Amino acid sequence: MSDPVLPKQTGPIYERVSCRSFENREIPEAIVHEIITAGTYAPASGNMQPWEFIIVDEIETKKQVAEQTFAGFYSKGAKSQQWVKDAGIIIIACVNYKRTIARYGELGYAWAPIDTTSAVQNMILAATERGIASCWVGGFKEEGIRELMHVPSYVKPIGLIPMEYPAIKTEQKQKLGAKWVTHKNTYNIPYFN
Ligand SMILES: Cc1cc2nc3c(=O)[nH]c(=O)nc-3n(C[C@H](O)[C@H](O)[C@H](O)COP(=O)(O)O)c2cc1C
Repeated sequence: MSDPVLPKQTGPIYERVSCRSFENREIPEAIVHEIITAGTYAPASGNMQPWEFIIVDEIETKKQVAEQTFAGFYSKGAKSQQWVKDAGIIIIACVNYKRTIARYGELGYAWAPIDTTSAVQNMILAATERGIASCWVGGFKEEGIRELMHVPSYVKPIGLIPMEYPAIKTEQKQKLGAKWVTHKNTYNIPYFN
């Protein structure tokens, strides 16, 4: 099959970009509620819904969270991502393994983070739809965030999501086209030519 002529790509899936600069305008609590609710509609293994979210909106706590970030794989934690503290809220996405493990045993360790990542993507898209920008931040010291937030051992923080109205318009990054990521019936046979 040849690569089809793509329809106009609009809507939150295509408009979303990672944003690291914010306007300093408060997100109404009702909107935060809508965003989190969108997360809770994600698919989940056995419908165990292992996600939990810590919403940080106090400036002093946001500063402490930013201190637990690191920038660049090779900086070995020397540099932090201070821009994180400037977002209206930082959502700390956590996986609570208890229910998924109870149902699926060891498999739960693989599946619960997948469920939670789906929830985060729903939230990011729901935010985009409401003009709110965000960025998944994986560069954080897990132990530091655990201690700061009093996260119990059966819960794992997997991402920080700073969110707010964007201060700048971020350019869309180049994406691999569908033809580079698809195979037809077996591996390495192109689906799209
Ligand atoms: C698991 C994960 C970890 C990431 N960690 C960081 C990070 O620590 N800091 C950052 O600025 N962006 C981070 N990003 C955002 C990516 O850099 C961004 O998604 C990528 O460059 C593609 O750009 P786009 O989101 O605008 O399409 C992360 C994204 C993912 C999915």
